[in-house]
Amino acid sequence: MTNPSRLAILISGNGSNLQAILDACNSGQLSAKVVTVISSRATAYGLVRARNAGIESSCFIKHEYESRQEFDARLAAYVSTFVPDFIILAGWMRILSSSFLSTFPNRVINLHPALPGMFPGLQAMERAYDAYHRGEITHTGVMVHLVPDEGVDNGPLLGQREIRFQADESFEQFKARVHEVEHQLLVHTLKTILEENIRSA
Ligand code: GRF
Repeated sequence: MTNPSRLAILISGNGSNLQAILDACNSGQLSAKVVTVISSRATAYGLVRARNAGIESSCFIKHEYESRQEFDARLAAYVSTFVPDFIILAGWMRILSSSFLSTFPNRVINLHPALPGMFPGLQAMERAYDAYHRGEITHTGVMVHLVPDEGVDNGPLLGQREIRFQADESFEQFKARVHEVEHQLLVHTLKTILEENIRSA
């Protein structure tokens, strides 16, 4: 029996994707263990989810006196203490510089609620929904990718799922559907990666 992979999860908000990972670890769907949850916001509900699951969690906020690179290096040093196999950006709302990324080459994974090359950055779902209503697109999707550099929501693709728009669907209904697909894709992609990682170890 191999040891479960160690996951560090970085969040900024609700943490529904964190919850999907926790549930998949608990059910045995993922052979993994969440070793730390770090939030960029003190009020993130994801921190409550982490505490409820008995996982060490913390809030990491950039001091005014430190540069972005210094903050990222401090964050990397802290994350390293948990010896994670992978770092999952599950709604983490800060762009990470090479001060962080160079510490974990090929080990930082991001989730984004749009397809590759479409709607990078903030409010991707809102922008996709509006584009559909202007008749510009018929579908959108979600993706999971590696984060090699500071490119926003861009990097080697690990998995994607298309989502077709439905006529007369409210934004809230659409958003709920996107989140559901995100949860499934994230867990499915992690499962594949963790299995490959074990095989190549
Ligand atoms: C997700 O839509 C994710 O793709 C985006 O931020 C959202 C986080 O949702 N980057 P949650 O905090 O996991 O519920």
